Amino acid sequence: MLRTHTCGELRAEDEGQEVILAGWVHRRRDHGGLIFIDLRDRWGITQLVFDPRLSPEAHDIASKARAEYVLQVKGEVRRRPEGLANPALATGEIEVAVKSALVLNEAKTPPFYISEEAHVDEALRLRYRYLDLRRRSMQEKLMLRHRVVNYIRRFLDTQGFVEIETPILIKSTPEGARDYLVPSRLHPGSFYALPQSPQQLKQLLMVAGFDRYYQIARCFRDEAQRATRQPEFTQLDLEMSFVEQEDILQLTEELFTSIVEDLTDKRMVEKPFPRLTYKEAIERYGTDKPDLRWGMELVDLTDLLAESEVRVFRAAIEGGGEVKGIRAPGCGRYSRKEIDELMDVVKAQGAKGLVSMAVEAEGIRSIIAKHLSEVEIEGLLSRMGAEPGDLLLIVADQPKVVAQALAHLRVEMGERLGLRDKDLLAFVWVLEFPLMEWNEELSHWEFSPHPFTQPKEEDLPYMASDPHRVRGLSHDIVCNGEEIGGGSVRIHQRELQERVFKMIGLSPEEMDAQFGHLLAALDYGAPPHGGIAPGIDRLLMVLTGEENIREVIAFPKTQSAQDLLFQAPSPVSEEQLKELHLRLAEDEEP
Ligand code: AMO
Repeated sequence: MLRTHTCGELRAEDEGQEVILAGWVHRRRDHGGLIFIDLRDRWGITQLVFDPRLSPEAHDIASKARAEYVLQVKGEVRRRPEGLANPALATGEIEVAVKSALVLNEAKTPPFYISEEAHVDEALRLRYRYLDLRRRSMQEKLMLRHRVVNYIRRFLDTQGFVEIETPILIKSTPEGARDYLVPSRLHPGSFYALPQSPQQLKQLLMVAGFDRYYQIARCFRDEAQRATRQPEFTQLDLEMSFVEQEDILQLTEELFTSIVEDLTDKRMVEKPFPRLTYKEAIERYGTDKPDLRWGMELVDLTDLLAESEVRVFRAAIEGGGEVKGIRAPGCGRYSRKEIDELMDVVKAQGAKGLVSMAVEAEGIRSIIAKHLSEVEIEGLLSRMGAEPGDLLLIVADQPKVVAQALAHLRVEMGERLGLRDKDLLAFVWVLEFPLMEWNEELSHWEFSPHPFTQPKEEDLPYMASDPHRVRGLSHDIVCNGEEIGGGSVRIHQRELQERVFKMIGLSPEEMDAQFGHLLAALDYGAPPHGGIAPGIDRLLMVLTGEENIREVIAFPKTQSAQDLLFQAPSPVSEEQLKELHLRLAEDEEP
């Protein structure tokens, strides 16, 4: 071994010991005679003292050492002199008086400080990710990630789950997002797809009788990137046989609760986790990913204002729309400029406008106040629970626009009022999603997230007549406004699965070409089964309070799906293309 201890290990009790340490020069301070170096490794920082009277050679090395040099030192552990202990460091009571030193490697001046948590351009951080990952905050996040995954494995092991790996090269089947494709050299013109998730494979493992499966699974989706998405990401993918939805919820909730309690110092807002149906979530929060760290629910004012003289309200209602609002406590004194900023938030969601009302002791202050009747004002104030000093924010539009606008406004007000507390975790289950969802990006109806979810028994009659009304036995787990995981009870009978495929217009031939393997398996005694897949990256985001998924991934891709360290994707040689039987379109040649 090149060392006897790590840089985070030595304490006052070690005084007098001869030790060997190795690590990076974190900081160097030259005090004329004495040189101090903070030596850093994954475990911590130890202060080294180089005294020319103890070793002129070591002192000489220290005087030439620069930030990020790799040093090995031999010396004696000393207590720091009276009053010089550093309580912020675990090793802060001691220092090592260096008797000999060796430079194990030199380092160029890094493109940014490792020793400070100053803001650094993200592109630079990603390009030099190996240096960025030396920073304490990044190391802590990745070490928490390790502990979480390790915890999950131990937890599921005690619950009888088997970890099984599934292939990365599979078949392209429609499953929500666009596939990443891999051309086959041996089968000209044919392609593998990288799995968007191991969904069908885990169902096949249930048919195979494994009963309880899990995998820390890598998934690949070529979709529009957002702060919470990566083209490749990791799921805790799990599936269980002979269960009801309640069993899946219980198990997941127990796992999440114990992760939070055993591995973090965050507080959970509510336990057991509250449950909302999709419909309730949209009605009360305008979104299927509500942030329940605070209230501020949407209040429906449609019936109150149906006859209103205020044109925007009446017009919206007559056009099949609705009027809803939220109450921002204590914001009654917002300036014109602040109200304009809020207006921009709702306009970005497609709303035509925002009506604001400041609540005062004598009534309301608003440009529409004089057009509202006494009864309307009274009704509005009491229904919104308004108090003097509050600001009421109201949107009138089509239901979808109202929901989106107020959902965003609610988050904006949560931010402005300091309610997005990073030490709080508000988990909530959202249940009974419609089986199908409108995809804005691709402008078509699609299964959400896949076509294997069992429809709710009572909705079966609508499958042919009104398919968009059919709800599934599905469950999403949401935390602090992020979708952390999703799953469902699956269809295990061929006949029902075929009926569901038919709902999106698949012909028997298309069913066979795309899902023949799964349909065939359902013919051989598939057990009732269901599962869930929490996203590990997303979970880590909420556990660390990060808003960008790249912060919890060692080597992430940029918003435009590039790897700045390896410079991928990159062109390949003519020969490689030829072997794969591919030719580039002329305008796409590099
Ligand atoms: P779904 O598509 O809802 O379900 O994904 C489950 C969870 O995976 C995470 N996730 C992502 N994380 C980062 N980047 C992405 N691009 C991304 N896409 C999804 C989210 C999400 O909640 N096979 C089903 C699960 C099942 O039914 O059991 C599935 O993949 O946290």
